[in-house]
Amino acid sequence: TRTDHTMPLKMPLQRHSRFIVLPILLCLVSFCAEVANAQFIVAHRGASHDAPENTLAAFRLAWEQHADAIEGDFYLSKDGQIVCIHDRTTKRTAPGRPELTVAQSTLSELRTLDVGSWKDKRFASERIPTLLEVLDTVPDGKRIFIEIKCGPEIVPVLKQHLQTSKLKPEQIVIICFNEEVVSQSRQTMPQYKANWLTSYKQATPVSAWKPTLDDVLRTLKRSGATGLGTNGNLKVIDQAFVDSIQAAGLEFHVWTVNEAKSAGTFKSLGVQSITTDRPAFIRNAE
Ligand code: G3P
Ligand code: CA
Repeated sequence: TRTDHTMPLKMPLQRHSRFIVLPILLCLVSFCAEVANAQFIVAHRGASHDAPENTLAAFRLAWEQHADAIEGDFYLSKDGQIVCIHDRTTKRTAPGRPELTVAQSTLSELRTLDVGSWKDKRFASERIPTLLEVLDTVPDGKRIFIEIKCGPEIVPVLKQHLQTSKLKPEQIVIICFNEEVVSQSRQTMPQYKANWLTSYKQATPVSAWKPTLDDVLRTLKRSGATGLGTNGNLKVIDQAFVDSIQAAGLEFHVWTVNEAKSAGTFKSLGVQSITTDRPAFIRNAE
């Protein structure tokens, strides 16, 4: 008869298996809890603390720094291209060269400028990217917040460009201070989220901050926005403010949060995302 050698071999393995499986399970559970609890980090103009804002270098670095999304600023050029730049002119990001007004310049004119050297010589080859080039950097499962810096004239072109991109609708969020851009985007491209942006001002140091919460809620409703993007002014934003926006079924996003302490404050307020120039720093500080 054949002797069954499997039993004695199996027994020690079974006895020890709980010492191997249990810690793996515990690690898995704590990893899942950490991921579920992690802050949604949007890289403001890319990883713009370390690389020149709104360049492909900054967006690629943002992905390397484990951002969940990137944010970039976009204008329509004279020849109907959508280009990534924050200011109305090239003065700040291409110093020492004749200043170009973005809306009055063609893509090829804008492309002659070096928009990286102002940050560091090693970025001298950076050129103003197009929206399509920026969209191309977005990995599967990640998102882009497209901030429109011009008026609603860009909306039909934006729709066309977004349709040619490989990104899924849930990867794209349109954001804008201009209510009309938000409302036209929602009407003509309801498959994309669109957040209305605002910051707050006081006429005098003792007067009320404007817009008020009621003003904000009214604008969000009127424009059909899916959420609010707001500057992280903690004199205005408190738990009641966040709760009121979210109770209306709207998302709450905050910019520009570059310190660990304020990132923690906004996390505890339950915001949907924070936008930061320093994705790696904020992620590591969690
Ligand atoms: O995410 C919105 C925020 O970027 C708006 O401010 O001036 O950096 O475009 P700004
Ligand atoms: Ca922006």
